[in-house]
Amino acid sequence: MTCPAEHMSEALSLARKGLLTTRPNPMVGCVITHNEKIIGRGWHEKSGDNHAEINAIHDVFRNLGSNAESALENSEMYVTLEPCSTTGKTPPCSEAIKKYGIKKVFIASEDNSQDGFANKTDGIEIEVGLLREDARRLNRGFFSRIEKNRPFITAKMGVGLDAGIALSSGESKWITSKESRKDVHKMRAENDAILTGIGTIVADNPSLTSRDSGYDEDKVMQPLRIVIDRNNKLTGNESIFQVEGNNLIFSSNQNIDSHNTNFYPNPSNKEINLKEIVQYLAKEKSINNLMIESGSGMFDALLDEQLIDEIILYQAPKLLGKDRKSFSNLDVTNEKLSTIDFQIIETTNLGEDKKIILRPNYK
Ligand SMILES: NC(=O)c1ccc[n+]([C@@H]2O[C@H](COP(=O)([O-])OP(=O)(O)OC[C@H]3O[C@@H](n4cnc5c(N)ncnc54)[C@H](OP(=O)(O)O)[C@@H]3O)[C@@H](O)[C@H]2O)c1
Repeated sequence: MTCPAEHMSEALSLARKGLLTTRPNPMVGCVITHNEKIIGRGWHEKSGDNHAEINAIHDVFRNLGSNAESALENSEMYVTLEPCSTTGKTPPCSEAIKKYGIKKVFIASEDNSQDGFANKTDGIEIEVGLLREDARRLNRGFFSRIEKNRPFITAKMGVGLDAGIALSSGESKWITSKESRKDVHKMRAENDAILTGIGTIVADNPSLTSRDSGYDEDKVMQPLRIVIDRNNKLTGNESIFQVEGNNLIFSSNQNIDSHNTNFYPNPSNKEINLKEIVQYLAKEKSINNLMIESGSGMFDALLDEQLIDEIILYQAPKLLGKDRKSFSNLDVTNEKLSTIDFQIIETTNLGEDKKIILRPNYK
């Protein structure tokens, strides 16, 4: 006999199929059972398309034909996120759930952006919280945007054994292994946007596109590239202006002539404030997941504002020498440093490198 947690686990696997395509919507999966046997499966593919619940109901019709309606009347639904109960780009799922007489709905996680599925569904039994933590982790960017009004922010750094991120000359491209670089391209594909510092643009002139990530290239949406340029150092000739994907520039110099670039409206460079920028990215650009690919300047500024949620270090067995650039040069007293602890969440091997996932605990 299959237990409810197994059905929800399958719904979570279905939700993950939307990893590259649902943004800015959350990934959602749904399984419908009758007498504990699965009769329909669905997932949300992209904004504007059917929600997972509706796709699962359609799947029941495909599987059972003329018996679908009677099976649905006695069915149970397992859905990874609270069903919508208002009209958005599609009609409310609560109406379809009511219409087909689904008897019980298991919901992994609540959705505060909705106005209460339970209030709209008289007579339907509802159980909330099955595999809630897994469901929240899956959509951590979406939950951060709607609950904290900013994206989930992950900083990536390629470091040597001595925590160097570049030679004194600024060169950094050769530090990590082929496997780590591929993982970074995967990470770029999974994030809605990448924020970098002007120091990195000047030193490396990166394109910040996702290439050779291992994902189906047709599904990869290039992340929005974001550059903060307080001292108007961008010229318009940098790689980001020549490659696929779009840029958003925070600068008072809005004269760069580029087909793929938008500017933050009317900034004075003095007003560029990191907290406001990340809130703007959530509110106006619907960015759920933001990746940071910068040197220590931007990394430290974000850490100091407690804006980094996760750090991914790719540590290579190399030394970068005594004049290396370090990944952090936080200019603080011991007292201040003691306000941030880092917890190692996961360590794996990637080629010759170690991939270390850390979470800052801000006090
Ligand atoms: N190994 C790796 O993973 C990796 C990744 C990226 C970069 N790097 C290396 O890092 C080095 C560059 O380091 P970096 O520290 O100069 O680069 P960065 O972090 O990309 O940019 C630093 C610049 O950001 C600006 N900035 C600082 N605080 C800010 C704030 N609160 N708001 C807005 N802007 C702010 C400052 O420029 P302004 O004062 O002009 O505004 C500062 O010089 C390069 O050698 C590069 O190769 C290594």
